[in-house]
Amino acid sequence: MKVYADYAATTPVKPIVTERITEILTNHYGNPSSIHSIGRDGRKYLDQSRREIATILGANVNEVIFTSGATEANNTAIKSVARMNKSKGKHIITSRIEHHSVLNVFEELEHEGFNVTYLNVNHEGIIDLEELKHALTNETTLVSIMLVNNEVGTVQPLFEIAELLEDKDVMFHVDAVQAIGHMKIEFKELPVDMLSITAHKFGGPKGIGALLVKQGTQFMPYIHGGEQELKRRAGTENVPYICGMATALKDTYEHMDQNNIHLMKLKEQFLVGLEENAIPFELNGSMVNTTGHITNLYFPFIEVETMLTLLDMSDIYVSSGSACTAGSTLPSHVLEAMFGKDNRIKQSIRFSFNAVTTEEEVQYMIATITKIYQQFKEEENE
Ligand SMILES: Cc1ncc(COP(=O)(O)O)c(C=O)c1O
Repeated sequence: MKVYADYAATTPVKPIVTERITEILTNHYGNPSSIHSIGRDGRKYLDQSRREIATILGANVNEVIFTSGATEANNTAIKSVARMNKSKGKHIITSRIEHHSVLNVFEELEHEGFNVTYLNVNHEGIIDLEELKHALTNETTLVSIMLVNNEVGTVQPLFEIAELLEDKDVMFHVDAVQAIGHMKIEFKELPVDMLSITAHKFGGPKGIGALLVKQGTQFMPYIHGGEQELKRRAGTENVPYICGMATALKDTYEHMDQNNIHLMKLKEQFLVGLEENAIPFELNGSMVNTTGHITNLYFPFIEVETMLTLLDMSDIYVSSGSACTAGSTLPSHVLEAMFGKDNRIKQSIRFSFNAVTTEEEVQYMIATITKIYQQFKEEENE
């Protein structure tokens, strides 16, 4: 049996999405900015997909700016707000557990002279609202906090964060990449100014995403050139992938409730199964403020590289953290923020499931981990 359990890194493209992309690539190749009928045909599909995505996410059509993915969306949002409001203040806030497409942007802005507060998190990976409250000053112009963490699955208290910003002139950006498909996003109801998404986490292709920007928000483009996306993001729109993203989002939303039940069941099955087999492990994250798709576990009996290799040899494909750090032996900055420089961060694995993950696959993972543990115990007794 082969088990892919790294869906937080990326998901396979849904067959209906591939079909849609192929159809648009083949038959509707017009440049949406061309005024002849072939161009207008391309524009029609672009507009239709924008409407679909906006409707599903509860946004206005003009609030959707297509980007090459969430890295670009995060870069755009953070740099736009920070640089535009420089004269008002140079203090910006984020958390220690953000994805590198946020953290490295803040580091870059620090080099430009911005003052950055990196909020700490508790053992469950949740920020401290009191710390945020005290960090806010008259100089603060931006808070960027992710909704769902990509390594441990913890959900941040978005509404409570927004409440602290309510009477302040502070922009709130949210990286919602890992939330899409697991939580209902109604952009107009959310007290946030900007929100990033990427298609490849919900059955769409890599290299396409969007930044949602509330109407009336001051905005500075990150990529300059043509007048696409209402002059907010230059470059010919990737119409086939945008249509693919719309199809993936539609399909994901249609099945979201049943998928979430399925994922929570699998998570429970996984944890109970390991417990019943007396495997020593601890959960990194929260049992309550969490999504079903990510389960990060600390196995105190084995180093992460050894565990990953043994799982790989049994055709189980998982990772030690985000895809950016998975290829290296760098310890996870998320786990380090949660537990400090503890051995735990070198002995933890992220399992991430998807709607297509089966109970049999979870059972196979439990059996394989049990075998690995038994082998460890035998070696220990030799
Ligand atoms: C939380 C989070 N933010 C941002 C990104 C970056 O998205 P993209 O791969 O579209 O640049 C990822 C994907 O790895 C992610 O998990």
